[in-house]
Amino acid sequence: MTTMAVDATRPLATGRTVLRLDGISKSFGAVAALTDINLDVAAGEVVAVVGDNGAGKSTLVKVLAGVHAPDSGTIVFDGRPVEIPDPGTAISLGIATVFQDLALCENLDVVENLFLGQELSPYRLDEVEMEKRSWGLLKQLSARIATVRVPIASLSGGQRQTVAIARSLLGDPKIIILDEPTAALGVAQTAEVLDLIERVRERGLGVVMISHNMEDVRAVADRVVVLRLGRNNGVFDVETVSSDQIVAAITGATDNVVSRRAARRAGHSDTVPASSGPPAPDAPDALGTPGATSAAGVSTHEVST
Ligand SMILES: Nc1ncnc2c1ncn2[C@@H]1O[C@H](COP(=O)(O)OP(=O)(O)O)[C@@H](O)[C@H]1O
Ligand SMILES: [Mg+2]
Repeated sequence: MTTMAVDATRPLATGRTVLRLDGISKSFGAVAALTDINLDVAAGEVVAVVGDNGAGKSTLVKVLAGVHAPDSGTIVFDGRPVEIPDPGTAISLGIATVFQDLALCENLDVVENLFLGQELSPYRLDEVEMEKRSWGLLKQLSARIATVRVPIASLSGGQRQTVAIARSLLGDPKIIILDEPTAALGVAQTAEVLDLIERVRERGLGVVMISHNMEDVRAVADRVVVLRLGRNNGVFDVETVSSDQIVAAITGATDNVVSRRAARRAGHSDTVPASSGPPAPDAPDALGTPGATSAAGVSTHEVST
């Protein structure tokens, strides 16, 4: 992975940019899982990452979680280029990940799960203190969990997701990455988890939410980043984009008119257009902020369905 200076000229997403990916690529043998991916996440912002199966979402999560090292590109965290060679580094930097399987221990109770492997050695927390902290954290999140001394196995899917998110917050992260947090949940539990995500955002964290569900994305995200075949294929402001437009970017309905136009404007029509090189200086993107990460200047108005 190369390290390079932070490009201060690139406009910020909304608040202070906490996490920035610049040209991240990752291949598995002949499979290019990620190609030249750009992503910005600001403090107090929920960024949804959407895309079809195989689009590269999980690979992106794993790069940020320190599971996979990228082949090229730069990760800038809190203003400085970083490498994330292993999960421990991700956590100590302040990048928490809640994987889709949650990685909770069914037979252990809520407190035990929250503090599993996170005891503050050598000042090991006692049971009473851990329980107090557990309640404090769950209360802050307005979590609907009646007792912290029940095994995870007896909790609902939404409550488990809550415990997994709460556990990731114990390390006091700046960014939290959620892989499909509502995929396995019913309507009421989904609402609970979306509330929780809002609460996390209110705490000033940057949230990256991987999702397949347009409704959830629209309900909670500030921006939507579309991946297609391992490349950026659009960045949209949730306030102004329609679900159809997002779906068009996911499925590649934007491949023809829009991407050719974007490529022309970016001045290299001979390459695959989406995300290849910076947009032309005057190219508007979905946010109306020139030069922000987007499918080479794809405007929401230009996406045809
Ligand atoms: N460990 C791996 N080894 C080989 N190929 C992989 C591996 N992980 C992912 N891929 C491939 O990379 C591409 C992107 O996969 P993935 O990131 O899982 O996509 P998504 O999560 O969006 O469905 C797919 O073609 C997938 O088969
Ligand atoms: Mg996946």
